[in-house]
Amino acid sequence: MPVRHLITSALPYINGIKHLGNLVGSMLPADTYARYLRQRGEEVLYICATDEHGTPAELAAAAQQQEVSDFCAQMHARQAELYRQFDLSFDAFGRTSSTHNHALTQQIYRQLRDHGFIEKRTTRQVYSLDDGRFLPDRYIVGTCPKCAYDAARGDQCEKCARVLDPADLKDPRSAISGSRNLEVRSCAHLFLKLSTLQAEVASWVDKSCGQWTELTASIAYKWLTEGLQDRCITRDLHWGVPVPENDPELQGKVFYVWFDAPIGYLAATAAWAETEGRPQSWQPWWRSEQGEAEWTQFMAKDNVPFHAIMFPAMLLGTRDSWRQPRRIKGFNWLNYYGDKFSTSARRGVFLDQALELFPADVWRWGLLAIAPESKDGVFTWEEFAQKVNKDLNDNLGNFVNRTLKFCVARFSDAVPAGGTPGAAEERLQADCAAQAKLLAAHLENLEFRKASDALRDFFTLGNLYIDQAAPWKTFKADPSRSALTIRTCINFLDQVVTLCEPFIPATSRRLAAALHTDLDPAVWRGAARWERLPPGHVFTLPEPLFKKIEPEQVIELRARFAGGAGEPTHVG
Ligand code: 2FM
Ligand code: ZN
Repeated sequence: MPVRHLITSALPYINGIKHLGNLVGSMLPADTYARYLRQRGEEVLYICATDEHGTPAELAAAAQQQEVSDFCAQMHARQAELYRQFDLSFDAFGRTSSTHNHALTQQIYRQLRDHGFIEKRTTRQVYSLDDGRFLPDRYIVGTCPKCAYDAARGDQCEKCARVLDPADLKDPRSAISGSRNLEVRSCAHLFLKLSTLQAEVASWVDKSCGQWTELTASIAYKWLTEGLQDRCITRDLHWGVPVPENDPELQGKVFYVWFDAPIGYLAATAAWAETEGRPQSWQPWWRSEQGEAEWTQFMAKDNVPFHAIMFPAMLLGTRDSWRQPRRIKGFNWLNYYGDKFSTSARRGVFLDQALELFPADVWRWGLLAIAPESKDGVFTWEEFAQKVNKDLNDNLGNFVNRTLKFCVARFSDAVPAGGTPGAAEERLQADCAAQAKLLAAHLENLEFRKASDALRDFFTLGNLYIDQAAPWKTFKADPSRSALTIRTCINFLDQVVTLCEPFIPATSRRLAAALHTDLDPAVWRGAARWERLPPGHVFTLPEPLFKKIEPEQVIELRARFAGGAGEPTHVG
């Protein structure tokens, strides 16, 4: 029986257009995996959503002089459109501001409260006299107590990823007005008693982490070793999920964004089920008593503590049967020339800019090939151009071109008949079968760099074969031998259509349209049929699939995206 596969990629904040680092560290590999599993006939649900609450949204809306709800609606639509253009195959792309998320967040809160894991405490909050309000999370900036970064935000230091409390910051100032005229005031808030869940979470991590990547497990154990601290889960903000309590001390408070955000995975599924006209059909995905499902999560390393510790702790504390993640794939950072991508310094490339420069597949390839899995990675235009030129143009594009052009010129626009497969064909078939299985294994293991290397090596097998068989040489003396080579090459391309689809889906579609073929899942099992496109099968000569990135363009792009002047400012 096929296993249900639930795939989620970390919910992108609503506050601005994401950059290449965000794409490669969550959504792109999740999409690649989802596409692979769908081809293998598994039942897949790939869920994502915009993460819309909290201070980032409020601050970004204020910077645009917009109502936060209008800002979020517009930015959700813009982000959704960009992800569509990147060919991200979400089954649902929801919003954490949805009614479904409000209801589910309040439900999970009540379950936690009813089982004794919530406590009201008096806290000391930073109050800005000049702004006339409390300054939660990102409303306050200052110097990180751990790494001394001077623009750390009140909730987390962007530089060293330490999770912070606004009161921890040195030299604190208001992010709204820059005012240092701040004081600490008492005020009631709700806490999640994570410390009392420590033992349970630790045993859950011990049981589960065999399925996680090393990075994920090491971050989780670091948190457990430091000991889980009770965490404040409410904020003095207007925009968010209201705390469902009549207590006058809690009036007007909303949940902390990290409390409701992961519940957004469930809520986006519930919203999807409703639009499908089967409102209850989300439940088997998320309630373990309603059936099996393997939940695989994708995220960058700063999100790992929330997904490997805090959200599981929340779910454990409900004493309900909510599904827990099975596999957690954490990614390191992708830097831009050794420094962070930075919105404020306008360093790096944002997704809307990226699509103006190159088609989505070129990015998908260039990024998956450098996915920062074992350590932080670096994006450089030089390496990007080299990968695209070598792997896509020279290796794949050139092979398509020379095979099909030669066929049309010497035979016709149909797969040629003639010749009997011999040792060279047998070797190619065996090598392709082994390589396809290796590629599948890397994808099953969520190793995307290795997977894209394996796919590149698959392309190379076709080139080695055609170079050795040299159909342009054999054509005169032995046209059936030449026909056999070309028929083999066209059938090799038929397999490329299948294998490249998770990585470069638009290219796969174009090649499939040219060859008048479709995906063949048997290829992944190493069971390709080498005469699937038989003699006489007609094809259409495609336009070149890729364009080379020239050295002058690399110089120009490097200068243009160096940061500083000239580029449009991005929201966020
Ligand atoms: O770090 C981020 O971009 C967060 N918006 C991720 C949220 S993931 C999930 F839990 F909602
Ligand atoms: Zn820091």
